[in-house]
Amino acid sequence: MSARIIDGKAEAIRLRARIAEEAAQLKRSHGVVPGLAVVLVGDDPASEVYVRNKATQTREAGMASFEYRLPASLSERALLDLIEELNVRSDVNGILVQLPLPPHISAENVVNAIAPEKDVDGLHPTNAGLLAVGRPALVPCTPLGCVILAKTVHENLRGMDVVVVGRSSLVGRPAAQLFISESCTVTVAHSATRDLPAVCRRADILLVAVGRPLLVKADWIKPGATVIDVGINRVAKDSGGTRLVGDVAFEEAVQVAGAITPVPGGVGPMTIACLLANTITSTKLRLGLQLAA
Ligand code: GUN
Repeated sequence: MSARIIDGKAEAIRLRARIAEEAAQLKRSHGVVPGLAVVLVGDDPASEVYVRNKATQTREAGMASFEYRLPASLSERALLDLIEELNVRSDVNGILVQLPLPPHISAENVVNAIAPEKDVDGLHPTNAGLLAVGRPALVPCTPLGCVILAKTVHENLRGMDVVVVGRSSLVGRPAAQLFISESCTVTVAHSATRDLPAVCRRADILLVAVGRPLLVKADWIKPGATVIDVGINRVAKDSGGTRLVGDVAFEEAVQVAGAITPVPGGVGPMTIACLLANTITSTKLRLGLQLAA
């Protein structure tokens, strides 16, 4: 039997429509237009595309977009100065510095400089710490999108066995924390995990975020499991040119899984939608408003 394909694109459209309503409501009731500043240093082509899409979708949701495209030669000091300026601007509710940064700039210093209440990437140690102790926080966008997609398949995740493959601060670790907050039993697997296929086969929900094309095979998946594939890898096609594939061997996995995200069109579209959702959250926090459950 073939798995249900989880349509991340459709879910992201629904989420963005809800965000646009919330943005309009904030304007009507408080005269506030939520504002997102996105900072790109250098000219990495993939980052260029992400930043352009972020800006377009921010404006489409009725929010203000402030874009900063800066040369790769920018000093760390100059970037930290810009962040300090954005931290105190009342029309900027969210700040995102696109990663990776040029090698002479410390991503850690940059992330630490962002005011935690404007950290819509959820990467500041204050937000990571709040998430780890189970308190409300701005949480990283991609894992948030993954949990929302898992909930389109299972209304209640309570008691489910979740295996997260990958322990990055951007995806694996925060995803594990979010699933713990949903009362799941969570295993985090990584490069030192013994018998990874056997660990993966325990999962009711298998989330893979390692950046290794087609790593997870059909026989790593428990029949009927939900598979969330965060990988986006560009690989050569036999016929020439390139194609995007995930960390999961989709064509065979779809025969075993109960539900699975495709690449592209699964987790990817949810990331920007969740960034916009976080910008609404940070705006509401500044206004002292109640957050939706
Ligand atoms: N580069 C790739 N993904 C991300 C992300 O989620 N946030 C930031 N800041 N940079 C990224």
